[in-house]
Amino acid sequence: MRRAIFPGSFDPVTNGHLDIIERGCKLFDEIIVAVVINPHKQPLFSVEERRELLTTVLTEISSDGCRLVVEDFQGLLMEYAAARQAAAVVRGIRAFSDYEYELQMALMNRRLEPRIETVFMMPAEAYSYVSSRLVKEVAQLGGSITGLVPPLVEARMREKLGQR
Ligand code: PNS
Repeated sequence: MRRAIFPGSFDPVTNGHLDIIERGCKLFDEIIVAVVINPHKQPLFSVEERRELLTTVLTEISSDGCRLVVEDFQGLLMEYAAARQAAAVVRGIRAFSDYEYELQMALMNRRLEPRIETVFMMPAEAYSYVSSRLVKEVAQLGGSITGLVPPLVEARMREKLGQR
C-alpha cells in the first residue's frame, strides 16, 4: 500500500489542489491531505473549517480507487509523515518561481527523513496561476473566483467576507 501525504495550508482549497490530488491518485493508493496547524498565521478559515471543506469537496473528484483522508498536523512535516508511514510527500509546482523554495524544503525534508521522497507534480496549465493567497485577495476585493475554487468554497468565502 503506497501512502502519500499532501500537506498544505489549504486556506482555502483551490481547484489547483484538487487537480494535484487527482493526479496523485494515479501514483498512490492513499493520499492523506494534511492541513498544517500554524499558530503564526492568521487564516481566513479555521483548521476545522478547512478540514470540513476538504472532506466535502474530495467526495466530488475522481479518485480512481485511491483512498483520500483529511487530517491536520502540527510541528515537523517529516515527523508526521514518518508516523503515518508515508512513502512520499506530494507538492504541486506551478511555475519556475515555486521551484526554488520547494527544492529547499524538499532537500531539508530529505535530510530530516531520507526514507521519504518528495514528489513534485504539475497542475493543469489552467491552474498554473491559481494560489490560495491570490484567490483570497481577489475575493476580498470583490472579484470573481468562479472556476478557481469549488462552488462550495466560493460560497463559504463570500459568506465569510460578508458579501452575501
Ligand atoms: O500550502 P503551503 O502553505 O505552501 O504549505 C507549506 C507546508 C505546510 C508544506 C510547510 O510549511 C511545512 O511543511 N510546514 C510544517 C513545518 C515543517 O516541517 N517545516 C520544515 C520544512 S523544511
